[in-house]
Amino acid sequence: MTGASPLDRLEHSADPLDGSHFLGLRKATGISRNSQIEEEGAKTMSAAASTLPARSMKIAKVKEQIGAIVTGIDLAQPIDAATRKALYDAVVENVVLVIRGQAHITPAQLQAAGEMFGELMEDQNRRYLVDGFPLISVLDNRNLDSKGQPAKVGANATWHTDHTNQELPPKFTMLYAVAVPDKGGATSVCNARAAYEALPDDIKRKIVDAKTENTLISSARMKTGNPDIVKTQLESKKPPTVHPLVRTHPETGTKAVWFHKSKTETVTGMSPEETQDFLQDLTDRITQPQFCYAHEYQPGDLLIIDDRASLHKAGFDYDHSQHRRLYRMLVRGDRPY
Ligand SMILES: [Fe+2]
Repeated sequence: MTGASPLDRLEHSADPLDGSHFLGLRKATGISRNSQIEEEGAKTMSAAASTLPARSMKIAKVKEQIGAIVTGIDLAQPIDAATRKALYDAVVENVVLVIRGQAHITPAQLQAAGEMFGELMEDQNRRYLVDGFPLISVLDNRNLDSKGQPAKVGANATWHTDHTNQELPPKFTMLYAVAVPDKGGATSVCNARAAYEALPDDIKRKIVDAKTENTLISSARMKTGNPDIVKTQLESKKPPTVHPLVRTHPETGTKAVWFHKSKTETVTGMSPEETQDFLQDLTDRITQPQFCYAHEYQPGDLLIIDDRASLHKAGFDYDHSQHRRLYRMLVRGDRPY
């Protein structure tokens, strides 16, 4: 055994394994035994990561308040229940999780990976879908609107959470990178739970019981909106959907600021224009760098966002002659409260 590393000894040990949810990873991915990792869990995976075989799953935190990166897992292979739970828990804990290295998977395997996190729901924009996969939509800078013009999204990009005009908005948004520019085009995500906790008490008091009225697009933003979305909203007879401005996470019980600025017609007691100004001010407070992570994609990255505790924003700071194409899946959520 001279020269054998502690990891080698653990690999060949017959010690029974404990009940840690990382236990299942070994079965799924061939991860070597490392009792220290089992004891300390996902938070400290990065510290021990360099000692693990290349094919092992590891979860490394990006920063204190937000983000974790997963490597060493192959979503083309069956993933066992313990691994699924570890991934799910890592999304909720870190607000955003990035699973790297999945450029080889098919749309069917991508959908199966998405379904590990819950029941998928349709994107309400039915114009841009992956052929044969109605639950996978396409965000592509080469998408055209119904008049054949480049779909207008950049000019209206704001911090938001998805589909707030629906009664049951998604709990998770998943974005899979198919084509990415050399530089820029990140998706930024902010931890709206930590940001809420850090707000001054007077602001918290002002917003904690406020409601938002949500439509497809605010009347104050129609000039810069995608014309198809504006037209749909103008023709809609559906009353606005009312949600709390500060929502409670159904799994952790924590509160988070939660809104889609472009879709918010009013915050309680404000006009549409006042609402936009108010939400911009709130956005500036909660998207401070310590709460945010801007993920610049590599092809094959799968980003998973806990929509119940975050806001996110697409980056348009890239060379638009280059191709940026993401696939999006949404996991059905609960009624916000
Ligand atoms: Fe979004």
